[in-house]
Amino acid sequence: MQRNMLMAHSQIKLYYKNVTAEIIGDENGITPEQLKNLAEKTSPLIAQLNAERKAGKTPYRDLPFNKEISERVKTLTAELKGRCENFVILGIGGSALGNIALQTALKPYMHNLDDKSRLGPRVFVFDNIDPPQLASFLDWVGDKLNKTIFNVISKSGRTAETAAQFLIIRKMLLDKFGPEGLKSHVVATTNPQKGTLRKIATENQLPTLEVPDGVGGRFSVLSAVGLFMAAICEMDIDSLLGGARDMDKRVSSEDFYKNPAAINAAINYHFYNRGKKISVIIPYSYALKDLADWYRQLWAESLGKAYALDGSEVHIGPTPIKALGATDQHSQVQLYREGPNDKLFTFLQVNNFNKDLTIGLAPDNTPELEYLAGKDLSTLLNAEKKATEYALLTSNRPCLTVIFPEVNAYTVGEFVYLYEVTTSFAGALFGINPYDQPAVKLGKEATFALMGKEGYKELAEQIQPLTKLDDKFLV
Ligand code: PA5
Repeated sequence: MQRNMLMAHSQIKLYYKNVTAEIIGDENGITPEQLKNLAEKTSPLIAQLNAERKAGKTPYRDLPFNKEISERVKTLTAELKGRCENFVILGIGGSALGNIALQTALKPYMHNLDDKSRLGPRVFVFDNIDPPQLASFLDWVGDKLNKTIFNVISKSGRTAETAAQFLIIRKMLLDKFGPEGLKSHVVATTNPQKGTLRKIATENQLPTLEVPDGVGGRFSVLSAVGLFMAAICEMDIDSLLGGARDMDKRVSSEDFYKNPAAINAAINYHFYNRGKKISVIIPYSYALKDLADWYRQLWAESLGKAYALDGSEVHIGPTPIKALGATDQHSQVQLYREGPNDKLFTFLQVNNFNKDLTIGLAPDNTPELEYLAGKDLSTLLNAEKKATEYALLTSNRPCLTVIFPEVNAYTVGEFVYLYEVTTSFAGALFGINPYDQPAVKLGKEATFALMGKEGYKELAEQIQPLTKLDDKFLV
């Protein structure tokens, strides 16, 4: 009973009054009639998504209920305990962004540097192939390799960036420790049966975790892809999954007005169709900063599509933009208020920060600073959120807010699941498949061609005239 009350208290909420015509006028806001129409259009999709989920078509929705995954992750974590002072993720896109988001949300800012208070290992996520960046890390980690675990994450097992990183690390480990080194310092997270990384893992007897079948990278953070890092860093994975499970009830509700994912998607869909094709997400919390990055991939790769489900050519998709409050008030708000009225804003607000600071007294002769003195820093940050929202509303810009009672594993789990299911609803409203990414494939293949991979000669020849510099156009 007490636990239920606690959970009810700690739920995140979506606040949507500030997108309505009552606040920003009929021309820009949603009128009661339009909201009713959105409810009528979206309600059948709730039943449809629930049915698709039951039929096993959206396996990402079952992840929070999958005890096997969390048990496997916990067992492997226990096996590695004492051997892991540095935990390094090699992966890109959906194999990295969720991990980065969890790390920023649930670990203190100084986690990696603060040897005294750190729980679990230092964490590094390499989601790029920038030579100086990786070289700098390798120089640092060289004499600490014996206490370093590399988690190579690739669903397909053949992504060029991740494969290249892995081959560099592999050589380093083999040179230092021989074949045993690979076995004791690498964990592979990949497809359960097939793919290059699975083959390497089997041949070298590497410990493995699975990216479940049918779960795309950007929907995989609540699988072993994100849970292993979370467990090894002593995050509360049971609460993370508990938050997602509780959100599952809310986003399954067939009552549109009680279903935050359905309302969120419907509002986004409404504004996209009325010229507000850019969706800006603005956390007013550093901890939530990288959830905005994670959302950006989720929204962009899922909803940016050329073809609708009926085969018609649509070229659809809102453009997700990330910003950070209060920082970007000083870099973006001029555009957001006075530039084109083509954006929907979603604020992320935190009511209680798990640490706060009191602003010091103003020096003598500076009465102009007294309004700050003695106040909590969180009061200033939240006042700035309200001030920015107010300023946007006076310019008739629609604003949603996701309110976090606090940032913890439970509310982050709720948020992740809310946005994943919002994406499914948005996909259904736009009439596209949100689970594929056909346009990413060509770039991947062009990289293979440019790097001389067998079977891509013809593509390399097609690319050549476009990539050869023409001196006439060099100034
Ligand atoms: O969401 C996705 O599917 C992509 O962003 C992938 O995660 C990304 O391309 C990396 O792919 P892989 O995990 O196969 O290496």
